[in-house]
Amino acid sequence: MRAIAEAPGKAIITGEHFVVHGAWALAAALPRKVRVTIEPSSKFEVISDLFRRGESPELLPVSNVVEEMAREFSGKPTVRVMINSDVPGGAGLGSSAATMVAVAAAFSKLNSLGLTVNELVECAMVGEQSIHGKPSGVDPAVCARGGVVLFRTGSTPKKVSFEGMRSLILSYSGLKRSTRGQIGHVARMKDRYPGMFESLAGGIGDLSLRASEMLRDEDMKGLGTLLTVNQAALMSLGVSNDTLDGMVDLLLTLGSYGAKVTGAGGGGSVLAVAPEGKEKSIVSGLSARGFETFRVEIPVEGVRSWLER
Ligand code: MEV
Repeated sequence: MRAIAEAPGKAIITGEHFVVHGAWALAAALPRKVRVTIEPSSKFEVISDLFRRGESPELLPVSNVVEEMAREFSGKPTVRVMINSDVPGGAGLGSSAATMVAVAAAFSKLNSLGLTVNELVECAMVGEQSIHGKPSGVDPAVCARGGVVLFRTGSTPKKVSFEGMRSLILSYSGLKRSTRGQIGHVARMKDRYPGMFESLAGGIGDLSLRASEMLRDEDMKGLGTLLTVNQAALMSLGVSNDTLDGMVDLLLTLGSYGAKVTGAGGGGSVLAVAPEGKEKSIVSGLSARGFETFRVEIPVEGVRSWLER
């Protein structure tokens, strides 16, 4: 018997970094998935296209999640974990959160733990904390729940519901970066400029609430304007860079309604919304400059798991 779980990657639409310090963020699950298969074994092992070597330190988070779940609930931690991912790692698209959520869901399924989404998110957070230090929890919350979620630490995440689909453009810079390092950089900015940081965080929290209404009401032009405003705040924190700024400029020049860094920044990906008729040429324009660029449709479902004989 083995258990399989699939969890989607994510894009932060607005509010990254400020969410770590108590602001609202708006995030969407993406139609790119991590699939985790867990089966009983004589020892703990991970086979993965993400973590190549059986004993590498990057495996720690996966083993942390499994060990914590075995201790807290039940089940043997000696399992073989197989991970297949079409979410690029280090791209700001939720590869680690989707992996940890899928590990938690598959382990729960294998051991008939029947954990709720909230409990799965808590288990995934054990892995997320060992990778990123002090993350807000927005990434596993959206990867587990799916759809579009308004998230603030300490509040119940709010699902943003709407009729039909919305489309987003994502473009990967090819620059990998560490979320832990970026979170640390922003914490230092907050220490240095507490007043400025507090005002920005308040403004971006409001912006996320407004962005959720615009997405719901299909005001993509208004949403785009808010993305570009959010980008200015991210630039002022120093989490954008020349490459990312250049990509945002290009997205705007090619006719997007708005664009910004998505996720931790310093590398990773940018996100744009654009008029329907311009999406194709925008994707081609970014791709032609060597950036892996794709259009996604949201909402998509969250984590799901099943047993196989
Ligand atoms: C990373 O996807 C989002 C950050 O805000 C970190 C976090 O919220 O944990 C940069």
